[in-house]
Amino acid sequence: MASDDPYALYHGLFLPKIAHTEDSLKYFESFKFQDNDVIAVTYPKSGTTWMQEILPLLLNGGDLTSVLTIPNWDRVPWLEETHAAKVMDKLTAPRAFVTHMPYNLMPSTFFSSAAKVIYISRNPKDIVVSSFHFHRMASFLRDPGTFEEFVDKFLAGEVIFGKWTDHVKCWNNTDLGDRILYITYEEMIQDLHGALERILHFLGKHMSKDVLKRVCEHCEFKSMKQNNMSNYSLVPQTIMDNEKSSFLRKGIVGDWKNYFSPELELKFNASISEGLKGTDIAFPWDEK
Ligand code: A3P
Repeated sequence: MASDDPYALYHGLFLPKIAHTEDSLKYFESFKFQDNDVIAVTYPKSGTTWMQEILPLLLNGGDLTSVLTIPNWDRVPWLEETHAAKVMDKLTAPRAFVTHMPYNLMPSTFFSSAAKVIYISRNPKDIVVSSFHFHRMASFLRDPGTFEEFVDKFLAGEVIFGKWTDHVKCWNNTDLGDRILYITYEEMIQDLHGALERILHFLGKHMSKDVLKRVCEHCEFKSMKQNNMSNYSLVPQTIMDNEKSSFLRKGIVGDWKNYFSPELELKFNASISEGLKGTDIAFPWDEK
């Protein structure tokens, strides 16, 4: 890899160097989980930022202060990124984190703790569209090339955090039992209120109807897009160019239909099926 390449290689995965350093990855590896921690796990572009908004609100009784005053990367940090060590002392229990890491690379105290996990998955066709636009606007990612070229890289796993099918498979085959909740981006779009109730129940939390309604309204796409603590408008344009594409771009299901030719769809489906062969993993978007 050329020295000006924006990616580092970590256990066979490409990670953007801007936020992943030797120190941040050592910090991640030796991180001490607490039993009441909550971590949302995603493959990139599956709803991470959404969970960074939802989790603090569900954990703190719906108080909007943190989501209106603290940037998402500080309030619910990525454990593997450089910000984590800087903000950890400021987090109050129960702490919430996000990660894109595969199951097998989680720190050892994750396995011995009772920390809860929420795994959010999303239709990979919508992920690849979202990711394509993210690569166009983020200067710390490799140039995506054309959409068709980018799809090839995505299917080959030559993108940050590797193959989508590997990520989904490792997090579906865990020993976590009732410590893990699976939820899809599509479910959250279809019925955010219902999804928040499921998450609340999983976290063992309660909320009055009125407070839950307010939380739900705050976490809708149009509200989050206005929240400067969550829409990445605080990041300099040289790093994320919102004029090329907004980070909170469309927030819908099925945008892939505007990008995939019938041939590309066939190729994509075949590759994803091959990647999931031998598993019983099924998703709502597979249903015709
Ligand atoms: P699109 O590019 O399809 O709009 P991540 O946070 O994992 O990087 O994922 C980003 C994707 O989640 C983007 O998808 C973004 O718009 C979408 N997203 C973030 N918050 C959302 C919300 N409140 N409602 C719907 N989609 C949301």
